[in-house]
Amino acid sequence: MADNKNEPTQVGDTGHVWDGIRELDNPCPRWWLNALYLSGVIVVVYFILYPSLPLVHDSTKGLLGWTQIGEYKEDLAKVQAKRAPFEDKLAKMSVDEILADKEMLNYAIGSSKVLYGDNCAACHGAGGAPAEGAGYPNLTDDDWLYGGTVDEIQMSIAKGRQGLMPAHEKLLKPEEVDQLVKFVIDSSNGVKNEAGHALFTAKGCFACHGADAKGIKEMGSANLTDKIWRFSGEESEIRKTILHGVNDANDKQTRVAVMPQWSQKLAVMLEAKAYAIADGEDPNEIDWSDELDGTEAERLSETDIKKLTVYVHQFGGGQ
Ligand code: HEC
Ligand code: HEC
Repeated sequence: MADNKNEPTQVGDTGHVWDGIRELDNPCPRWWLNALYLSGVIVVVYFILYPSLPLVHDSTKGLLGWTQIGEYKEDLAKVQAKRAPFEDKLAKMSVDEILADKEMLNYAIGSSKVLYGDNCAACHGAGGAPAEGAGYPNLTDDDWLYGGTVDEIQMSIAKGRQGLMPAHEKLLKPEEVDQLVKFVIDSSNGVKNEAGHALFTAKGCFACHGADAKGIKEMGSANLTDKIWRFSGEESEIRKTILHGVNDANDKQTRVAVMPQWSQKLAVMLEAKAYAIADGEDPNEIDWSDELDGTEAERLSETDIKKLTVYVHQFGGGQ
């Protein structure tokens, strides 16, 4: 265009005529040609600087030595360098101290999201609320099987949990089962059922669920007097739990309820510390060579479990 601005029709034509329109043989616009040559130069420069040509097993490396994975690793190292002081500080703090320190609390919660998503959400649901009927406890309510204090939550995570209720199919007459199902439903509705309660006591249910049927956290037994169901409030489901129990290895239809153990090592340490404190001893004086033999499994580090404890505690149901 630039060259033939004044007399575009003075150049030769290609000999083609379309519907009376003659096809001229003008050269391409200068700016366009320059851009084309420049892009050719860029391709060559790029080929020289960056990995480009695929070879049999590898590719040409390029003068800059740049790789995608290298860039990722550099970025990761930067993130880790930023996190390191927090991680070091966190490792030395107790869960209670973390909860009291706003900055560390924010850090712990922020960095727990991925940890929780990777390890816990499959069962407990994103945000601690599992799908209805999934058979996993909701971590966002005030109803705790094993207790909702930070120490109890930390122990649940470190040690894992596996509630046990024996199957009662062979221990109860059908009418007794009916009566106990009714007692459980009545209790959840706040209705007094004295005959049912007498049977509940006579059949030993109280030993695990407590005389008032509100559950005993040392056993992880469910509270039978509220409307929060560990499994389900349906009559048939309550019957199923009573007949087949929970985690009863001798009953094929038993309910399975297993919370995996995340650190046997931390569980042993927490237990030893609790014993020491109960005995009036200084937990810092514990001889760990007596307590730990070095083979304890650890699927998550102590720091990660602390973070998750804080994270679960702030779901809203923590006590
Ligand atoms: C394979 C499924 C599964 C995974 C994964 C899992 N849990 Fe659990 N969790 C359970 C079950 C089942 C229970 C209830 C155990 C019982 O009924 O005795 C439970 C119980 C708990 C409890 C005690 C709840 C209470 O009411 O006292 C806490 C806290 C908890 N889980 C936290 C976590 C955290 C944090 C993670 C991730 C590190 C996690 N869980 C991963 C299945 C799972
Ligand atoms: C050895 C202890 C033990 C005994 C005995 C026992 N339970 Fe349980 N029961 C449990 C535990 C533990 C759970 C919760 C299991 C879990 O979440 O892993 C439970 C759960 C239940 C549930 C489910 C509640 C819900 O919210 O879904 C019902 C109903 C129940 N028990 C009724 C009874 C009745 C009735 C008896 C007496 C016939 C009885 N249990 C005897 C330990 C026991």
